[in-house]
Amino acid sequence: MNSVYDWEWFVKNFESISKINLSAYKRPQMERRINSFLRLVNAGDYYNFIALLRDDKAIYNRFIEHLTINVSEFFRNPTQWEVLEREIIPILLNSRSPLKAWSAGCSTGEEVYSLAMLLREKFNGKADTILATDIDSEVREKAAAGMYNLKAVQSLPENYKNKYFLKHGDN
Ligand SMILES: C[S@@+](CC[C@H](N)C(=O)[O-])C[C@H]1O[C@@H](n2cnc3c(N)ncnc32)[C@H](O)[C@@H]1O
Repeated sequence: MNSVYDWEWFVKNFESISKINLSAYKRPQMERRINSFLRLVNAGDYYNFIALLRDDKAIYNRFIEHLTINVSEFFRNPTQWEVLEREIIPILLNSRSPLKAWSAGCSTGEEVYSLAMLLREKFNGKADTILATDIDSEVREKAAAGMYNLKAVQSLPENYKNKYFLKHGDN
């Protein structure tokens, strides 16, 4: 877009209304996604788009959903969980106990509950609090509900399923 209302202008103004700093993300991917949404809502240019995002909460929420990739699983990326269990948590517990943990982009909550189960099973529940945050309000609600279908939990160890989950219909 060849105007003063360019990408940098958009990033700066979007941060002032959302507190989200888009320059922390990979630009080509972000720009593609944002421009496709801008066309979808016929905003025309970044100036009108910022006004729309500021004034219309429903469009703002749709935009955040469009931007985010919410993929999550219990114990996603198992090798990272192994490192966390074997190396990182023991070191942290040596210097600060109880532990405070933060799942910064928690999506639908699988990461938070995985951490809670791991701490309970392997570290005697030594976490005071696990904070979970996400910019996407829809996934935050799912995380808070803590309801997962049977497929989502199928690869969890049997004792974890029996101990930490209740079956409710297909969930
Ligand atoms: C790919 S998911 C990963 C979920 C989980 N951490 C996991 O590894 O299973 C990334 C999540 O980060 C969230 N996110 C992205 N940027 C964020 C930000 N600046 N603040 C909070 N959440 C953010 C997205 O909405 C999305 O739900």
